[in-house]
Amino acid sequence: MGPHAASKPMTLSEQADELEERMMHELNEKIATKSVLFNLADGKVEMDSGPALQAKNPGKYFLMGADPRLPKMPDKPQLIDFFKQRFASMNHLLQSANLALKAGHSEKVVLACLLHDVGVAGFVRCDHGYWGAQLIEPYVDEEISWAVRVHQALRFFPDESVGYGYPDMYVKYFGPDYKPEPYIVEEYKRARNHKHYMTARLICVNDVYAFDPNAVVNLDDFVDIIGRHFKQPKEGLGFDNTPSSHMWRTLMWPTRFL
Ligand SMILES: [Fe+2]
Ligand SMILES: [Fe+2]
Repeated sequence: MGPHAASKPMTLSEQADELEERMMHELNEKIATKSVLFNLADGKVEMDSGPALQAKNPGKYFLMGADPRLPKMPDKPQLIDFFKQRFASMNHLLQSANLALKAGHSEKVVLACLLHDVGVAGFVRCDHGYWGAQLIEPYVDEEISWAVRVHQALRFFPDESVGYGYPDMYVKYFGPDYKPEPYIVEEYKRARNHKHYMTARLICVNDVYAFDPNAVVNLDDFVDIIGRHFKQPKEGLGFDNTPSSHMWRTLMWPTRFL
């Protein structure tokens, strides 16, 4: 029950104003902005203009750094920091990596499994294999980033040679008539004969079973493998001037005005 419980119930716009006010307070008087992409996810093609937002918040400046509502990141963030402070869920990734480890696969395959859904866990669901691969590409062997990219397509196609069938879960999620987009079919065809095909396929094999809510896995178990196969920049992810540094920075500061 809030302070208004005894009085007249608040209208929706009053509730919105109160929420906005509370969030502003948490923001230390700075204005956090939502990118168009965040609004698109609410079904709206729109964005607040700078002048309009500032008019609504007189005397306040826009947030141009860390958002205090989000967990604090260190000055030189490493992959583990993103796992802990930015990825909304890591259980699925840890379970996948654990399955690959137990099955005796190479450390590159294990790391590929550990990273295969970082796109979903921390960035954007749609085309998550491509986003995830782009994020990690400067820091891992090409085998790993290629496999993460292509698992996006491969998971829709069976491979009897490793006992991988079309996931039941996709029938449940997308309906029995769902057909992957033509670009996914093309990606699959290209991947079929690629030298790293099996790495991407093993992501799928260790993926579909990795949703056990009771499985106990620990990120600490993979710290050594990350250390050996993920080239952590000494400046921190985001400050190392690679083709994906800006993506790590966006993850770190998603509500910066510019
Ligand atoms: Fe995935
Ligand atoms: Fe997955």
